Amino acid sequence: MNNLLEDTENGVQIITINRPKQLNALNEETIEELHIAFSKAAENAAVKVIVLTGSGEKSFVAGADIKELAGLNVEQGKQLAAKGHETLFDFVENLRKPVIAAINGFALGGGLELAMACHLRVASDNARMGLPETTLGLIPGYGGTQRLAQLIGKGRAFELIFTAKMIDASDALRYGLVNHVVGQAELLSKCMNLAQSILKNSPVALGFAIDAINSGFMDDVNGYDVEISSFGECFGTQDFKEGTSAFIEKRKANFPGS
Ligand code: CAA
Repeated sequence: MNNLLEDTENGVQIITINRPKQLNALNEETIEELHIAFSKAAENAAVKVIVLTGSGEKSFVAGADIKELAGLNVEQGKQLAAKGHETLFDFVENLRKPVIAAINGFALGGGLELAMACHLRVASDNARMGLPETTLGLIPGYGGTQRLAQLIGKGRAFELIFTAKMIDASDALRYGLVNHVVGQAELLSKCMNLAQSILKNSPVALGFAIDAINSGFMDDVNGYDVEISSFGECFGTQDFKEGTSAFIEKRKANFPGS
């Protein structure tokens, strides 16, 4: 991979976007590489949780690569957004393994959109977040108009997109945009601790929980129906047998993930 670093530690796959000179901006190649990295992590049974971060101390991701956007026409703009949604942003959101964004600095435009596609967000106290696309004559095109409103409410989403202003980590925490804020030196260890407390639980149940929560935000699907059906499906899994047996036998569960 030209633009990513990958590392696996105790069931946690760490994917680092590595274009620090461009503040880890998302060019087309990086988006393709991220798709491959997330697909491989999804298929690898040894990976239970994924942490996504940016290299360097300054930036998580400073957005889509503006130099690549500059020459596009209307049709190419639509294609870029559609491809991005399919291969990366919706792909990450619907991955059946928890994905944590470790926001280590600027998360702007497509960078904040990528963090919002992850299931959980932990920010370092130097992080700054915003959707500055209107300064470029654009709107957010990688899901930002939808996910920002879902996470922080419509009024605040309008304000952030209209003003293009960045918010700091403490405002992001207050708005519910991030789950936790820690010092930069603690960022990865906080994410690893969070991952450890997730990965002792049933991988199958985590996957069903992701499906059920996401389905509540889809137009053509009834989230309650998905919950009922997924809840039922759990009863047919080895993880359910192991979880309930472990409880009754007063021991820790060792989930097979099937
Ligand atoms: N695309 C391409 N290159 C970028 C970039 C981006 N989004 N963000 C930063 N860079 C590059 C800069 O061009 C610069 O490269 P050079 O040294 O070759 O000139 C390098 O990264 C360092 O950036 P700065 O010198 O600007 O650093 P700074 O500390 O002065 O400012 C910043 C940091 C405030 C984040 C500023 O870089 C900035 O405003 N970046 C753009 C943020 C932005 O508008 N993002 C939205 C992109 S559009 C989008 O994402 C569309 C979508 O929804 C699909």
